[in-house]
Amino acid sequence: MIPERLSVLHSWCVQADWRAPTIVGGRGARFWDENGREYLDMSSLAECMNLGHQHPKLVRAIRDQAEKLCFVTASWGAGPRAALAERLLERSGYAGGRVFFTLGGADANENAVRFARLASGRPAGAIVTRERSYHGASQAAMALSGDSRTVEVDPALYGVVRVPPPYAYRDAHPGEEPAAFARRNVAAIGETIARLGAQAVAAVLMEPDAGTNGIVAPDEYWPLLRAETAGLGVLLIADEVMSGFGRCGEWFAWQRHGEAGRPDLMTLAKGLTGAHLPLGAVVVSAQVAAPLEHRMLNAGLTYCGHPLSCAAGVAALEAYAEEGLIERSKVLGRELLARLLAMRSRHAVIGDVRGGHGLFAVVELVRDRGTRQMLRPWPETHPSLREFVSRARDRGVSFATRGNLIILAPPLVIEENDLQDALALMDSLLGELDWS
Ligand SMILES: Cc1ncc(COP(=O)(O)O)c(C=O)c1O
Repeated sequence: MIPERLSVLHSWCVQADWRAPTIVGGRGARFWDENGREYLDMSSLAECMNLGHQHPKLVRAIRDQAEKLCFVTASWGAGPRAALAERLLERSGYAGGRVFFTLGGADANENAVRFARLASGRPAGAIVTRERSYHGASQAAMALSGDSRTVEVDPALYGVVRVPPPYAYRDAHPGEEPAAFARRNVAAIGETIARLGAQAVAAVLMEPDAGTNGIVAPDEYWPLLRAETAGLGVLLIADEVMSGFGRCGEWFAWQRHGEAGRPDLMTLAKGLTGAHLPLGAVVVSAQVAAPLEHRMLNAGLTYCGHPLSCAAGVAALEAYAEEGLIERSKVLGRELLARLLAMRSRHAVIGDVRGGHGLFAVVELVRDRGTRQMLRPWPETHPSLREFVSRARDRGVSFATRGNLIILAPPLVIEENDLQDALALMDSLLGELDWS
Protein backbone atom coordinates (compact mmCIF):
# COMPACT_ATOMS: atom_id res chain seq x y z
CA MET A 1 0.00 0.00 0.00
CA ILE A 2 1.29 3.50 -0.82
CA PRO A 3 1.89 5.38 2.44
CA GLU A 4 -0.64 8.19 2.96
CA ARG A 5 2.12 10.81 2.88
CA LEU A 6 2.81 9.87 -0.74
CA SER A 7 -0.76 9.48 -1.99
CA VAL A 8 -2.70 12.33 -0.36
CA LEU A 9 -2.31 16.11 -0.67
CA HIS A 10 -2.91 17.21 2.90
CA SER A 11 -4.47 20.56 3.73
CA TRP A 12 -2.70 23.38 5.55
CA CYS A 13 0.78 21.91 5.61
CA VAL A 14 4.00 21.56 3.67
CA GLN A 15 3.53 18.16 2.03
CA ALA A 16 7.11 17.06 2.61
CA ASP A 17 6.77 17.78 6.34
CA TRP A 18 3.55 15.81 6.87
CA ARG A 19 4.12 13.02 9.38
CA ALA A 20 1.26 11.78 11.47
CA PRO A 21 0.12 8.55 13.02
CA THR A 22 -3.00 6.96 11.55
CA ILE A 23 -5.99 7.30 13.83
CA VAL A 24 -8.18 4.24 13.94
CA GLY A 25 -10.65 4.83 16.76
CA GLY A 26 -11.98 7.12 19.44
CA ARG A 27 -14.40 7.45 22.31
CA GLY A 28 -15.38 10.53 24.30
CA ALA A 29 -12.45 12.93 24.61
CA ARG A 30 -9.90 10.32 23.47
CA PHE A 31 -8.76 8.87 20.18
CA TRP A 32 -6.10 6.29 19.40
CA ASP A 33 -3.75 5.32 16.61
CA GLU A 34 -2.97 2.09 14.82
CA ASN A 35 -0.25 1.30 17.36
CA GLY A 36 -2.74 1.53 20.19
CA ARG A 37 -1.41 4.87 21.49
CA GLU A 38 -4.16 6.97 23.07
CA TYR A 39 -4.42 10.74 22.95
CA LEU A 40 -6.55 13.04 25.06
CA ASP A 41 -7.99 15.54 22.61
CA MET A 42 -7.54 19.09 23.91
CA SER A 43 -8.68 20.74 20.68
CA SER A 44 -11.67 18.60 19.58
CA LEU A 45 -9.43 17.96 16.52
CA ALA A 46 -10.34 21.08 14.51
CA GLU A 47 -12.46 22.59 17.34
CA CYS A 48 -15.31 20.58 15.87
CA MET A 49 -15.81 17.38 17.88
CA ASN A 50 -17.83 19.11 20.59
CA LEU A 51 -19.64 15.85 21.40
CA GLY A 52 -16.44 13.83 21.56
CA HIS A 53 -15.42 10.98 19.31
CA GLN A 54 -17.90 8.34 18.14
CA HIS A 55 -20.82 9.64 20.15
CA PRO A 56 -23.11 6.57 20.31
CA LYS A 57 -26.29 8.54 19.68
CA LEU A 58 -24.83 10.10 16.55
CA VAL A 59 -23.45 6.84 15.25
CA ARG A 60 -26.86 5.21 15.78
CA ALA A 61 -28.74 8.08 14.09
CA ILE A 62 -26.47 7.92 11.05
CA ARG A 63 -26.83 4.14 10.82
CA ASP A 64 -30.64 4.31 11.19
CA GLN A 65 -30.96 7.00 8.53
CA ALA A 66 -28.63 5.10 6.18
CA GLU A 67 -30.95 2.11 6.40
CA LYS A 68 -33.99 4.28 5.59
CA LEU A 69 -32.76 6.69 2.93
CA CYS A 70 -29.27 7.88 2.10
CA PHE A 71 -29.93 10.71 -0.29
CA VAL A 72 -32.50 13.02 -1.80
CA THR A 73 -32.00 16.32 -3.63
CA ALA A 74 -33.31 19.75 -2.61
CA SER A 75 -36.15 19.48 -5.14
CA TRP A 76 -37.73 16.81 -2.91
CA GLY A 77 -38.60 16.98 0.75
CA ALA A 78 -36.46 15.22 3.35
CA GLY A 79 -37.65 14.49 6.88
CA PRO A 80 -34.32 14.98 8.68
CA ARG A 81 -33.75 18.27 6.84
CA ALA A 82 -37.10 19.69 7.92
CA ALA A 83 -36.65 18.39 11.47
CA LEU A 84 -33.22 19.95 11.84
CA ALA A 85 -34.30 23.29 10.38
CA GLU A 86 -37.21 23.47 12.80
CA ARG A 87 -35.00 22.70 15.80
CA LEU A 88 -32.36 25.22 14.79
CA LEU A 89 -34.99 27.94 14.44
CA GLU A 90 -36.40 27.00 17.84
CA ARG A 91 -33.01 27.01 19.56
CA SER A 92 -32.01 30.31 18.04
CA GLY A 93 -35.43 31.95 18.34
CA TYR A 94 -35.68 33.14 14.73
CA ALA A 95 -39.47 32.96 14.47
CA GLY A 96 -40.41 32.94 10.80
CA GLY A 97 -36.76 32.56 9.79
CA ARG A 98 -35.29 29.99 7.43
CA VAL A 99 -32.33 27.62 7.29
CA PHE A 100 -30.17 26.98 4.24
CA PHE A 101 -28.00 23.87 4.53
CA THR A 102 -24.44 23.70 3.24
CA LEU A 103 -21.55 21.26 3.36
CA GLY A 104 -19.51 23.17 5.92
CA GLY A 105 -18.48 26.54 7.24
CA ALA A 106 -16.87 28.11 4.18
CA ASP A 107 -19.89 27.66 1.91
CA ALA A 108 -22.18 28.70 4.77
CA ASN A 109 -20.30 32.01 4.90
CA GLU A 110 -20.32 32.40 1.11
CA ASN A 111 -24.06 31.81 1.00
CA ALA A 112 -24.70 34.11 3.96
CA VAL A 113 -22.94 36.86 2.04
CA ARG A 114 -24.99 36.07 -1.06
CA PHE A 115 -28.27 36.18 0.91
CA ALA A 116 -27.29 39.38 2.68
CA ARG A 117 -26.55 41.04 -0.66
CA LEU A 118 -29.89 39.88 -2.10
CA ALA A 119 -31.95 40.72 0.98
CA SER A 120 -30.39 44.15 1.41
CA GLY A 121 -31.02 45.03 -2.22
CA ARG A 122 -27.28 45.78 -2.53
CA PRO A 123 -26.17 42.98 -4.87
CA ALA A 124 -22.66 44.37 -5.16
CA GLY A 125 -22.56 45.67 -1.58
CA ALA A 126 -19.30 45.53 0.32
CA ILE A 127 -18.79 42.98 3.08
CA VAL A 128 -16.87 44.21 6.12
CA THR A 129 -14.73 41.62 7.92
CA ARG A 130 -11.82 41.73 10.36
CA GLU A 131 -8.11 41.39 9.96
CA ARG A 132 -6.93 38.23 11.76
CA SER A 133 -10.19 36.44 11.03
CA TYR A 134 -10.87 33.10 9.42
CA HIS A 135 -14.08 32.23 7.59
CA GLY A 136 -13.06 29.26 5.44
CA ALA A 137 -10.83 28.17 2.60
CA SER A 138 -12.99 28.23 -0.52
CA GLN A 139 -11.90 31.12 -2.74
CA ALA A 140 -14.50 33.69 -1.64
CA ALA A 141 -14.27 32.56 2.00
CA MET A 142 -10.51 33.14 1.83
CA ALA A 143 -11.26 36.64 0.61
CA LEU A 144 -13.52 37.13 3.62
CA SER A 145 -10.75 35.94 5.94
CA GLY A 146 -8.12 38.41 7.09
CA ASP A 147 -5.72 35.58 7.75
CA SER A 148 -2.02 35.14 7.12
CA ARG A 149 -2.94 31.87 5.38
CA THR A 150 -5.22 33.51 2.85
CA VAL A 151 -3.15 36.43 1.66
CA GLU A 152 -3.01 35.19 -1.94
CA VAL A 153 -6.67 36.06 -2.45
CA ASP A 154 -7.40 39.71 -3.15
CA PRO A 155 -10.34 40.80 -0.94
CA ALA A 156 -11.18 43.69 -3.27
CA LEU A 157 -12.13 41.22 -6.02
CA TYR A 158 -14.88 39.94 -3.73
CA GLY A 159 -16.00 43.32 -2.40
CA VAL A 160 -14.48 42.64 1.00
CA VAL A 161 -13.23 45.48 3.20
CA ARG A 162 -11.24 44.64 6.31
CA VAL A 163 -11.17 46.46 9.62
CA PRO A 164 -8.86 46.04 12.65
CA PRO A 165 -9.73 43.21 15.05
CA PRO A 166 -10.76 43.82 18.68
CA TYR A 167 -7.31 42.82 19.93
CA ALA A 168 -7.42 44.57 23.28
CA TYR A 169 -4.22 42.92 24.56
CA ARG A 170 -2.18 44.60 21.85
CA ASP A 171 -4.23 47.53 20.62
CA ALA A 172 -5.86 49.06 23.72
CA HIS A 173 -4.33 52.38 24.82
CA PRO A 174 -2.44 52.24 28.13
CA GLY A 175 -5.02 52.17 30.90
CA GLU A 176 -7.94 51.90 28.46
CA GLU A 177 -10.72 49.72 29.91
CA PRO A 178 -11.96 46.83 27.72
CA ALA A 179 -15.38 48.51 27.39
CA ALA A 180 -13.81 51.75 26.18
CA PHE A 181 -11.58 49.84 23.77
CA ALA A 182 -14.63 47.97 22.43
CA ARG A 183 -16.46 51.28 21.91
CA ARG A 184 -13.49 52.74 20.07
CA ASN A 185 -13.07 49.65 17.88
CA VAL A 186 -16.77 49.49 16.97
CA ALA A 187 -16.88 53.23 16.31
CA ALA A 188 -14.01 52.73 13.86
CA ILE A 189 -16.08 50.08 12.05
CA GLY A 190 -18.95 52.56 11.89
CA GLU A 191 -16.58 55.14 10.42
CA THR A 192 -15.38 52.67 7.79
CA ILE A 193 -18.97 51.94 6.80
CA ALA A 194 -19.78 55.65 6.70
CA ARG A 195 -16.72 56.28 4.54
CA LEU A 196 -17.84 53.59 2.08
CA GLY A 197 -21.42 54.92 2.31
CA ALA A 198 -23.85 52.70 4.25
CA GLN A 199 -25.86 52.13 1.05
CA ALA A 200 -22.78 50.54 -0.48
CA VAL A 201 -22.33 48.00 2.33
CA ALA A 202 -24.36 44.79 2.39
CA ALA A 203 -23.17 43.27 5.65
CA VAL A 204 -20.62 42.96 8.40
CA LEU A 205 -19.42 39.37 8.91
CA MET A 206 -17.64 38.54 12.16
CA GLU A 207 -17.29 35.96 14.88
CA PRO A 208 -19.18 36.85 18.07
CA ASP A 209 -16.65 34.98 20.23
CA ALA A 210 -13.84 32.41 20.02
CA GLY A 211 -11.65 32.67 16.96
CA THR A 212 -9.18 30.57 15.07
CA ASN A 213 -6.86 33.55 15.16
CA GLY A 214 -6.94 33.70 18.92
CA ILE A 215 -8.50 37.10 19.36
CA VAL A 216 -11.42 37.18 21.77
CA ALA A 217 -13.27 40.49 21.81
CA PRO A 218 -14.12 42.25 25.08
CA ASP A 219 -17.61 41.31 26.34
CA GLU A 220 -19.06 44.67 25.38
CA TYR A 221 -18.00 44.38 21.73
CA TRP A 222 -20.71 42.25 20.12
CA PRO A 223 -23.82 44.12 21.37
CA LEU A 224 -22.15 47.41 20.47
CA LEU A 225 -21.44 46.07 16.97
CA ARG A 226 -25.05 44.90 16.69
CA ALA A 227 -26.32 48.37 17.65
CA GLU A 228 -23.86 50.13 15.34
CA THR A 229 -24.77 48.04 12.27
CA ALA A 230 -28.50 48.27 13.00
CA GLY A 231 -28.17 52.04 13.30
CA LEU A 232 -26.49 52.20 9.90
CA GLY A 233 -28.99 49.82 8.26
CA VAL A 234 -26.31 47.21 7.56
CA LEU A 235 -26.95 43.50 8.10
CA LEU A 236 -24.87 41.64 10.68
CA ILE A 237 -23.74 38.06 9.99
CA ALA A 238 -22.44 36.06 12.98
CA ASP A 239 -19.96 33.37 12.02
CA GLU A 240 -20.81 30.78 14.68
CA VAL A 241 -18.97 27.98 12.91
CA MET A 242 -16.55 27.58 15.81
CA SER A 243 -18.29 29.49 18.60
CA GLY A 244 -21.65 27.70 18.31
CA PHE A 245 -22.99 24.58 19.99
CA GLY A 246 -21.67 25.17 23.47
CA ARG A 247 -18.10 26.02 22.56
CA CYS A 248 -18.57 29.44 24.16
CA GLY A 249 -21.04 28.39 26.85
CA GLU A 250 -24.25 29.04 24.86
CA TRP A 251 -26.00 27.31 22.01
CA PHE A 252 -24.88 30.27 19.92
CA ALA A 253 -22.31 32.68 21.33
CA TRP A 254 -24.36 35.82 20.56
CA GLN A 255 -27.04 34.55 22.97
CA ARG A 256 -24.80 35.56 25.90
CA HIS A 257 -26.01 39.10 25.14
CA GLY A 258 -29.68 38.17 24.76
CA GLU A 259 -31.68 40.00 22.11
CA ALA A 260 -29.08 42.80 22.12
CA GLY A 261 -26.73 40.36 20.41
CA ARG A 262 -29.08 38.87 17.81
CA PRO A 263 -27.54 38.98 14.31
CA ASP A 264 -29.58 39.05 11.08
CA LEU A 265 -27.94 35.87 9.83
CA MET A 266 -25.71 33.29 11.44
CA THR A 267 -23.57 30.55 9.97
CA LEU A 268 -23.00 27.14 11.53
CA ALA A 269 -20.92 24.00 10.93
CA LYS A 270 -18.48 21.99 13.13
CA GLY A 271 -20.55 21.38 16.30
CA LEU A 272 -23.75 21.13 14.24
CA THR A 273 -23.05 17.42 13.85
CA GLY A 274 -20.09 17.36 16.25
CA ALA A 275 -18.13 16.64 13.04
CA HIS A 276 -19.65 13.18 12.73
CA LEU A 277 -20.67 14.13 9.19
CA PRO A 278 -20.02 17.26 7.12
CA LEU A 279 -22.78 19.85 7.46
CA GLY A 280 -23.11 23.61 7.62
CA ALA A 281 -26.06 25.98 7.72
CA VAL A 282 -27.08 29.58 7.29
CA VAL A 283 -29.89 30.65 9.60
CA VAL A 284 -31.63 33.82 8.47
CA SER A 285 -34.15 36.03 10.26
CA ALA A 286 -37.71 36.46 8.97
CA GLN A 287 -36.70 39.92 7.68
CA VAL A 288 -33.88 38.45 5.60
CA ALA A 289 -36.01 35.51 4.45
CA ALA A 290 -38.91 37.68 3.22
CA PRO A 291 -37.19 39.26 0.17
CA LEU A 292 -35.86 35.81 -0.84
CA GLU A 293 -39.35 34.30 -0.96
CA HIS A 294 -40.42 35.06 -4.54
CA ARG A 295 -37.16 35.11 -6.41
CA MET A 296 -34.92 32.44 -7.83
CA LEU A 297 -32.34 31.34 -5.27
CA ASN A 298 -29.28 30.50 -7.34
CA ALA A 299 -27.45 28.65 -4.61
CA GLY A 300 -26.71 25.14 -3.42
CA LEU A 301 -24.43 22.18 -3.99
CA THR A 302 -25.54 18.63 -4.80
CA TYR A 303 -25.16 17.39 -1.25
CA CYS A 304 -26.63 20.38 0.60
CA GLY A 305 -29.04 19.19 3.30
CA HIS A 306 -27.89 15.59 2.92
CA PRO A 307 -30.29 13.37 4.92
CA LEU A 308 -27.49 11.50 6.69
CA SER A 309 -25.87 14.75 7.84
CA CYS A 310 -29.20 16.27 8.87
CA ALA A 311 -30.11 13.13 10.84
CA ALA A 312 -26.75 13.48 12.60
CA GLY A 313 -27.59 17.14 13.26
CA VAL A 314 -30.93 16.27 14.86
CA ALA A 315 -29.23 13.67 17.06
CA ALA A 316 -26.48 16.16 17.96
CA LEU A 317 -28.98 18.78 19.10
CA GLU A 318 -30.69 16.14 21.24
CA ALA A 319 -27.37 15.03 22.72
CA TYR A 320 -26.34 18.58 23.68
CA ALA A 321 -29.69 19.07 25.44
CA GLU A 322 -30.02 15.62 27.07
CA GLU A 323 -26.48 15.67 28.45
CA GLY A 324 -26.59 19.30 29.57
CA LEU A 325 -23.44 19.98 27.56
CA ILE A 326 -24.00 23.67 26.92
CA GLU A 327 -24.20 24.40 30.65
CA ARG A 328 -21.35 21.95 31.30
CA SER A 329 -19.15 23.87 28.88
CA LYS A 330 -19.95 27.10 30.68
CA VAL A 331 -19.05 25.64 34.09
CA LEU A 332 -15.87 23.89 32.90
CA GLY A 333 -14.92 26.99 30.90
CA ARG A 334 -14.79 29.01 34.13
CA GLU A 335 -12.57 26.35 35.67
CA LEU A 336 -10.35 26.30 32.60
CA LEU A 337 -9.95 30.07 32.72
CA ALA A 338 -9.12 30.05 36.45
CA ARG A 339 -6.49 27.34 35.96
CA LEU A 340 -4.90 29.22 33.05
CA LEU A 341 -4.80 32.48 34.97
CA ALA A 342 -3.09 30.65 37.85
CA MET A 343 -0.61 29.24 35.33
CA ARG A 344 0.04 32.75 34.07
CA SER A 345 1.21 33.74 37.54
CA ARG A 346 3.80 30.94 37.42
CA HIS A 347 5.10 31.30 33.84
CA ALA A 348 6.43 34.61 32.55
CA VAL A 349 6.06 33.29 29.00
CA ILE A 350 2.27 33.55 29.27
CA GLY A 351 1.36 37.06 28.23
CA ASP A 352 -2.40 36.84 27.99
CA VAL A 353 -5.22 34.40 28.65
CA ARG A 354 -8.50 34.92 26.80
CA GLY A 355 -11.89 33.25 26.48
CA GLY A 356 -13.31 30.91 29.08
CA HIS A 357 -17.00 31.63 28.42
CA GLY A 358 -17.12 27.94 27.61
CA LEU A 359 -14.53 25.29 26.84
CA PHE A 360 -12.55 27.61 24.61
CA ALA A 361 -9.49 29.51 25.74
CA VAL A 362 -6.43 31.03 24.15
CA VAL A 363 -3.04 31.40 25.79
CA GLU A 364 -0.75 33.92 24.10
CA LEU A 365 2.96 33.41 24.72
CA VAL A 366 5.30 36.40 24.77
CA ARG A 367 9.02 37.07 24.93
CA ASP A 368 8.53 39.78 27.51
CA ARG A 369 5.36 40.28 29.49
CA GLY A 370 6.20 43.89 30.29
CA THR A 371 6.59 45.02 26.68
CA ARG A 372 4.25 42.30 25.33
CA GLN A 373 6.84 41.54 22.69
CA MET A 374 5.69 38.51 20.72
CA LEU A 375 7.55 35.26 21.28
CA ARG A 376 7.95 35.11 17.51
CA PRO A 377 6.50 37.53 14.94
CA TRP A 378 2.96 36.39 14.03
CA PRO A 379 2.30 33.79 12.63
CA GLU A 380 5.68 32.12 13.26
CA THR A 381 5.99 29.46 15.94
CA HIS A 382 8.78 29.28 18.55
CA PRO A 383 10.65 25.94 18.36
CA SER A 384 9.87 25.31 22.04
CA LEU A 385 6.16 25.54 21.29
CA ARG A 386 6.63 22.83 18.66
CA GLU A 387 8.49 20.84 21.25
CA PHE A 388 5.63 21.45 23.70
CA VAL A 389 3.20 19.83 21.23
CA SER A 390 5.53 16.93 20.57
CA ARG A 391 6.29 16.19 24.26
CA ALA A 392 2.60 16.46 25.13
CA ARG A 393 1.76 13.99 22.37
CA ASP A 394 4.39 11.62 23.70
CA ARG A 395 2.62 11.83 27.05
CA GLY A 396 -0.77 11.16 25.47
CA VAL A 397 -2.26 14.64 25.15
CA SER A 398 -2.98 16.41 21.86
CA PHE A 399 -2.79 20.23 22.03
CA ALA A 400 -3.48 22.68 19.19
CA THR A 401 -1.21 25.66 18.66
CA ARG A 402 -0.96 28.43 16.09
CA GLY A 403 1.78 31.04 15.97
CA ASN A 404 2.38 32.00 19.60
CA LEU A 405 -0.95 30.66 20.73
CA ILE A 406 -2.07 27.55 22.55
CA ILE A 407 -5.75 27.03 21.73
CA LEU A 408 -7.67 24.94 24.25
CA ALA A 409 -11.00 23.59 23.05
CA PRO A 410 -11.58 20.04 24.31
CA PRO A 411 -14.78 18.10 23.64
CA LEU A 412 -17.57 19.28 25.92
CA VAL A 413 -17.83 15.72 27.24
CA ILE A 414 -14.27 15.71 28.61
CA GLU A 415 -14.04 14.26 32.13
CA GLU A 416 -13.09 16.86 34.69
CA ASN A 417 -10.07 14.86 35.91
CA ASP A 418 -8.83 14.50 32.31
CA LEU A 419 -9.08 18.26 31.87
CA GLN A 420 -7.16 18.79 35.12
CA ASP A 421 -4.48 16.28 34.09
CA ALA A 422 -4.01 17.91 30.69
CA LEU A 423 -3.66 21.33 32.32
CA ALA A 424 -1.18 19.94 34.86
CA LEU A 425 0.87 18.56 31.94
CA MET A 426 0.71 21.93 30.19
CA ASP A 427 1.85 23.63 33.39
CA SER A 428 4.86 21.34 33.79
CA LEU A 429 5.85 21.51 30.11
CA LEU A 430 5.75 25.31 30.16
CA GLY A 431 8.20 25.13 33.06
CA GLU A 432 10.42 22.49 31.45
CA LEU A 433 10.99 24.22 28.13
CA ASP A 434 13.40 27.00 27.27
CA TRP A 435 11.48 30.04 25.91
CA SER A 436 14.48 32.27 25.22
C1 LIG B 1 -14.89 30.73 12.43
C2 LIG B 1 -14.81 29.79 11.28
N1 LIG B 1 -15.53 30.04 10.19
C3 LIG B 1 -15.50 29.22 9.13
C4 LIG B 1 -14.70 28.11 9.11
C5 LIG B 1 -14.68 27.22 7.90
O1 LIG B 1 -15.38 26.05 8.13
P1 LIG B 1 -15.13 24.78 7.19
O2 LIG B 1 -13.74 24.33 7.42
O3 LIG B 1 -16.18 23.80 7.64
O4 LIG B 1 -15.37 25.23 5.79
C6 LIG B 1 -13.94 27.81 10.24
C7 LIG B 1 -13.08 26.61 10.25
O5 LIG B 1 -12.16 26.46 11.02
C8 LIG B 1 -13.99 28.67 11.35
O6 LIG B 1 -13.27 28.45 12.44
